[in-house]
Amino acid sequence: MQPKQTLTVDEINLSDIEFWTLPPEEREGAFKTLRDERPLAFFDEPEPEGFPPEFRGGGYYAVTRHADILEASRQPELFCSSRGATSIFDTPPEFLEFFGSMINLDDPRHARLRRIVSAGFTPRMLKQVEDSVQRLAAEIVDELIERGDCDFVTEVAARLPLKIICDMMGVPESDYGLVFSRSNVILSMGDPEYIPEGQDIPTALLTAGAELAGLVQDLGAYRREHPTDDLTSALVNASVDGDQLDQAELGSFFILLVVAGNETTRNAVSHTLQLLTEHPEQRAMWAADYDRLAPVAVEEIVRWASPVIWMRRTATRDATLGGRSIKEGDKLLLFYNSGNRDEAVFDDPFTFDLRRTPNDHVGFGGPGPHFCLGAHLARREITVMWRELLHRVPDIRMTAEPDRLRSSFINGIKHLPCTFSR
Ligand code: HEM
Repeated sequence: MQPKQTLTVDEINLSDIEFWTLPPEEREGAFKTLRDERPLAFFDEPEPEGFPPEFRGGGYYAVTRHADILEASRQPELFCSSRGATSIFDTPPEFLEFFGSMINLDDPRHARLRRIVSAGFTPRMLKQVEDSVQRLAAEIVDELIERGDCDFVTEVAARLPLKIICDMMGVPESDYGLVFSRSNVILSMGDPEYIPEGQDIPTALLTAGAELAGLVQDLGAYRREHPTDDLTSALVNASVDGDQLDQAELGSFFILLVVAGNETTRNAVSHTLQLLTEHPEQRAMWAADYDRLAPVAVEEIVRWASPVIWMRRTATRDATLGGRSIKEGDKLLLFYNSGNRDEAVFDDPFTFDLRRTPNDHVGFGGPGPHFCLGAHLARREITVMWRELLHRVPDIRMTAEPDRLRSSFINGIKHLPCTFSR
């Protein structure tokens, strides 16, 4: 793919949702223009869809160069997360109960939570999960083969990450459907497929949050009395230095896990189908030497897909970034998708190359305390799922263009029809 620079720098408006519906090569072209001509461009904030207009703040800087993303990520005391990392407007207090987990906190509260929940991401825990990843991936492909041509997103990509998180936490299978639909609402960003036109968005988000929190809090209460080796038991039973999560922290951590670990991995797996369909030579090369290439290939998939488009930071005092002045209170959106195409860091950034090394992408965030907690797990999931697919349905391919999520935050594919020879 080659970027098309159809917009002048003054015509680019990242706050206009229509921008995010442009063809990918035109969006890539616009980010190239920003990196070249205005790497710290200022934008007015979009209307906070569904929220009262007073939520709209004074605007934000779009950080589009790789070096500036690293510089901001490395200085969390200067560019903080606690005024909101996942929304452009400041998080309203009533939302913090469900959406105030560590991704939206700074140290020392962030460090405390991260220390406790890291118990779930130790090599021992991950080894345990790995067996489930393999078993579940095999089951998903069994069912795919039985079903035949279908929507790859709903029947394949969406199922593994959700099951893994539920499995890790010990959520019973009968509740998987509820977890799936409520996490879609939370990440939908108002996409009408998930929150019907006319429905009040804040209420829909809070209701979905309350239902997910309630589910895991009931489970936590039970696990306090009846512990098993699942992550919920570890989190509520003071296994880590005598510290444990309280009910509210358990609820918001679960919501963070289902939203952070679910859509992201699902989209990486779905984008891979599109990429392998469009690049048959890359598919053949990977299939011929799957396990040796996988560690490098997965990084290229995450670079290319950039499932999380941005995270926000806010300046805690006057500062500079990339040599430019920033004022206290200024908001920065770190555009990982743009950092991942930066010509200063990547040779031929618009070439999808499963053998790319080095590959210093920022798809899992920049270096700093919030670097993706689930990065190892995500890499395993993508590797195992695609090993199973290329082994058992080697010619699986998409049959129509992806139906993309209307969002500036998540590079999502909602539907992707697929076919394969049985
Ligand atoms: C391809 C898949 C994934 C991508 C692209 C991704 C990307 C990201 C990004 C960009 C961040 C923010 C980094 C920052 O602010 O500096 C993040 C944070 C996080 N991710 Fe992931 N993620 C993925 C999968 C997962 C999975 C599978 C899980 C868990 C099951 C997970 C759990 C988290 C958590 C808990 C945080 C917050 C960490 C903190 O604030 O300390 N992610 N991820």
